[in-house]
Amino acid sequence: MKINTEFSTIYISAEIQQVLTEVLKKNQNRKTFVLVDENTKKHCLPIINSIVEIDSSEIIEIKSGEKNKSIKSLEKVWTMLSEKGADRLSLLINLGGGIICDLGGFAASTFKRGIDFINIPTTLLSQVDASVGGKTGVNLHELKNEIGVFNHPKYVLIDSSFNRTLEKDHILSGWAEMLKHSLIFDEKDWLNVISHDIKHIGFKELNKLIARSINIKNHFVEQDPFEKNIRKALNFGHTFGHAFESLFMNSESEISHGEAVAHGMICELYLSGEICNFPAKKTNTAVTYLLNIYNKVELNDSDFENIIVLIGHDKKKEGQNINFTLLEDFGKIKINQNCDRELLIKTLNWYKSL
Ligand code: GLY
Repeated sequence: MKINTEFSTIYISAEIQQVLTEVLKKNQNRKTFVLVDENTKKHCLPIINSIVEIDSSEIIEIKSGEKNKSIKSLEKVWTMLSEKGADRLSLLINLGGGIICDLGGFAASTFKRGIDFINIPTTLLSQVDASVGGKTGVNLHELKNEIGVFNHPKYVLIDSSFNRTLEKDHILSGWAEMLKHSLIFDEKDWLNVISHDIKHIGFKELNKLIARSINIKNHFVEQDPFEKNIRKALNFGHTFGHAFESLFMNSESEISHGEAVAHGMICELYLSGEICNFPAKKTNTAVTYLLNIYNKVELNDSDFENIIVLIGHDKKKEGQNINFTLLEDFGKIKINQNCDRELLIKTLNWYKSL
């Protein structure tokens, strides 16, 4: 399957070697670099290493993990590119999850004022989100994605069979973003997505759903590539979601990005009902589905204040406004919705009572 967007060519197939060989053939005589972390070096690089151009390319390795999505890792990538003779025609292939795609995309976008890059996302989350849409960047200390640019990969090569080596939690993390895409698109898509059993889905079937999900993301990105307006639809579930993610970060109850977004969507469906009259019956059905897959997060009363502070720090805030993206119905998006402290507390109390 091939999706031509305004910015990138995206291939979704079960034959990554074949597709990558063809893409590299079209880009012959360019010095090629492959960015990996210790996990993708071990599990994913061997899958594409039989391709001559990959075997003869320079491998750049950084450490996995959010804390390594840093200026220090970025400097390592720039230094390696420079020392190993990358020029403006060189290609950087980002082989990994969201951190590799974001960091590698930023390194490529800024090296010698920009070289081409290819994303080969190896987690479901990065296949449906980070690898497409052109957001690149790194964290600045503890501030997530504080430094970055919008710039798109030349190609995105997706093969859901990379997910074979992933644990269930990783799959469920990507699934949450796919559910978000369907909620903001339309009810028909939502009903189709939830009719699949993610815990037992085949790779071919998953590839079809991934393609659908990317098309939805692209539908919003192409209308508003720099997130001034309707692209904010993609932030549904993320204001509460990021607060949950940060609240539990580095604790025993740490949760994945997708899990945090799933609980964020639950809260923001409730807020959608309160502010935009999202139908209560549909909220109940969606919340029941989500809670069936993602275990409820236990919150103490003392967590409420921390969540409210974290929501206040959210990057999506503009001036004094918090800027929730909410829904009037499936696919009926209301961006830039503000909400006062009382309603935030009411929402958290409702969540706690579920
Ligand atoms: N992850 C949401 C976006 O790319 O806009």
